[in-house]
Amino acid sequence: MSWSEVASREFSVGDGTNEAECPLNWGLPTPLAGRLQFAASRATCGPFHLSPDSKGKRLPVPPKELFLSNLDDQVSGSSFLSHPLPRHRFPASETDPTAAYQLVHDELLLDGNSRQNLATFCQTWVEPGIRKLMDECIDKNMIDKDEYPQTAEIEARCVRMLADLWNSPDASNAQGCSTTGSSEAAMLGGLAMKTRWQKKREHAGKSAARPNLVCGPVQICWHKFARYFEVELREIPCEGARLRMSPEEVLRRCDENTIGVVPTLGVTHTLQYEPIQQVALALDDLEEELGLDIPIHVDAASGGFTAPFIHPSIPWDFRLSRVKSINASGHKYGLAPLGCGWAIWREKEGLPDDLVFRVKYLGGSMPTFALNFSRPGGPVVAQYYNFVRLGREGYAKITQGCAEVGQWFADQIKRLGLFDLIYDGNGGIPGCTWTLKRGVNPGFTLYDLADRLRVKGWQVPAYPMPANRTDLVVQRMVTRLGVTRDLAGLLLEDLHKAIQHFKTNPTTRHLSRQNAGGYHHG
Ligand SMILES: Cc1ncc(COP(=O)(O)O)c(C=O)c1O
Repeated sequence: MSWSEVASREFSVGDGTNEAECPLNWGLPTPLAGRLQFAASRATCGPFHLSPDSKGKRLPVPPKELFLSNLDDQVSGSSFLSHPLPRHRFPASETDPTAAYQLVHDELLLDGNSRQNLATFCQTWVEPGIRKLMDECIDKNMIDKDEYPQTAEIEARCVRMLADLWNSPDASNAQGCSTTGSSEAAMLGGLAMKTRWQKKREHAGKSAARPNLVCGPVQICWHKFARYFEVELREIPCEGARLRMSPEEVLRRCDENTIGVVPTLGVTHTLQYEPIQQVALALDDLEEELGLDIPIHVDAASGGFTAPFIHPSIPWDFRLSRVKSINASGHKYGLAPLGCGWAIWREKEGLPDDLVFRVKYLGGSMPTFALNFSRPGGPVVAQYYNFVRLGREGYAKITQGCAEVGQWFADQIKRLGLFDLIYDGNGGIPGCTWTLKRGVNPGFTLYDLADRLRVKGWQVPAYPMPANRTDLVVQRMVTRLGVTRDLAGLLLEDLHKAIQHFKTNPTTRHLSRQNAGGYHHG
């Protein structure tokens, strides 16, 4: 039966009073029947409404245009495809939801495949249970503690669990909050340090006009913190083979205006942990010598969920009394979907009272500290699911697996003979970092290589180290949940092919950082 026949045929209604029962498939192939049912469902809303007393009664023939235009709504290959989606002006009219969904969905095809993105630390694979919970929480606003008390309770449980995981001396009374990610959590940690320092200075009758913060090569969120909250950032530059902070360099920059020191547990550029215990000991000595009591806030964006499970003997957390606060990203190795971070304080006094706002909660009030107001509850609920589902045992298995893939890949990179390892996957965040071997000219740069790997969909970023080693260009691979040994093997095959490609097609003009995708840690 042709479309014109379908559209012009009279149809009668059996005992159906709704479109689901409508005898409209007439032996048509399923996709066509589906289209027609859709058209009929639209028709029930129009002049051909199927009322109960229409049982058995012949209905007027719907105009062909109605069918055909509605059929267009349903599928690809319709008239929608001849129009681009609105880009600059607010659309004047409606679009059928099925078509709108398909068109927007199709645009997202251009977004690269997140599972092949080995630049990100963030979760790109979640269990079906997490998808379900995210869906169930789509209407829950974290800030409405009174309306969603159980979500608030779940957040509070996570805070206590994290304080326990990070060895707080009094986990059941821990002070902390969820955030949208480590950036917001870092801002809150920094703000608390600044306020504490200001109060101390004012109390002592001293100027609080020129606060500074000492750190190693930090993620961009700390540059933002410094600019937004007017704090001088004393970022320790890399020097020679030292690509992270050292206790000596920290002490060299500390003075009475230092609000805190921020070591990173898993430096973004190399994946290495900074020597937090040694820095804490050096600050203890400084206090003894000069009376300067400078707190540590640990940026444990990734390491907060790796070190407790695969490096339990490294004391980086509240086991060190100088560590007053910690931030971590739930959506990185915490395995929560995007939109989940944590800030935890060692003790109540760490979080100055005048930074805390109170919101209504079950007839009482609950303290909140956040830069946002409305925020989805799903990521926090999913985080709790992970804690319950995996426990220390499950997290340790997953993290160890990720670390082993990173170590295996590092080993393969070394065997190629073209690269020097900067980080071999041991003792830090799962993954590895390498640079081109000194004195070897393989006929390509790391930017060329990153660009060539993109042809196969892989994102393995190449970038220069920060000051004073901007001459050192490195390439980094992050191995997280879902980056299996098998996937890493496929990447290695494509890496071999890329190297071979450059052998047979030598590049005369090497790519710049920008041409190769311009990866930034922001
Ligand atoms: C060390 C470090 N701190 C902070 C951040 C920012 O984290 P988020 O993306 O969760 O805001 C990152 C992100 O990669 C990071 O590596």
